[in-house]
Amino acid sequence: MPAKIIDGKKIAEKILEKAKKDVKALKEKGTTPKLVVIQVGDDPASSIYVQKKRDKCLELGMASEIKKFGEKITYTEFLFEIEKLNKDDSVHGILIQLPLPEHLSHKQVFETIDVCKDVDGLHPANHGKNLLGKECFRPATPIGIMKILHETGVKLEGKNAVVIGRSNIVGKPIAIMLLNAGCTVTICHSKTTNLKEHTLKADILISAAGKPKLVKESMVKKGAIVIDVGTTKMKNGKLCGDVDFEKVRKKASWITPVPGGVGPMTIASVVENTVKACREITNA
Ligand code: GUN
Repeated sequence: MPAKIIDGKKIAEKILEKAKKDVKALKEKGTTPKLVVIQVGDDPASSIYVQKKRDKCLELGMASEIKKFGEKITYTEFLFEIEKLNKDDSVHGILIQLPLPEHLSHKQVFETIDVCKDVDGLHPANHGKNLLGKECFRPATPIGIMKILHETGVKLEGKNAVVIGRSNIVGKPIAIMLLNAGCTVTICHSKTTNLKEHTLKADILISAAGKPKLVKESMVKKGAIVIDVGTTKMKNGKLCGDVDFEKVRKKASWITPVPGGVGPMTIASVVENTVKACREITNA
């Protein structure tokens, strides 16, 4: 039997419906949750992502703004801009869209964000709390993945989970979350030798490599849950995931499509985190 396809859009809609009610309640108490999304440079994919986040917030009655800076902004100027947002009481969530230009990406930009406004969960304190399994802001994509796994109804404890990708925003935090949920976790990455040897053991396979069709049918265990985080824009303008969807779906038990799988869950989780930040900051 082919895999059941997980409709990320539908799950995200449920989350956003609840967020909309929460926003209404907060507004009745006099506060409007606000997300500021920071973009540095003109990467076309980033421009689409930041607009999607802002537009979703506005659609739900929240406030949101994109702060766009030129590639040449200095580290000092950038930190000054973040500090301004930290001090701005009307702002509850600050998200720095990645990738950043190299002169910023190797610096401590995430430490500068007020930990209470770090709705992308990239401040070292939030990474640390995630590691310890404590209450904190976690990055949106891993939250979305955990919710998708929950929706399958499959018990996570004792499962072999294999994560492809070791980024700070997806690979590392999702591996920790799966570990804390009782999975036996393997993290594979670009330097892993014989990837297939690892993926074939996965009851849960999560690919966040950004390599179109990296995961072939021959690399997937029968009945595995396959979550595709990859979104590579192809020459024909279409998005392509890391997983060879049509072939792999014949072997998996559950699978996420691209688009319409993890993507909508990421946006919903950013919204949810911003509402949470607003509630906590204002004690509402
Ligand atoms: N770049 C691509 N996806 C994301 C995301 O979810 N958050 C941030 N900050 N940058 C990204």
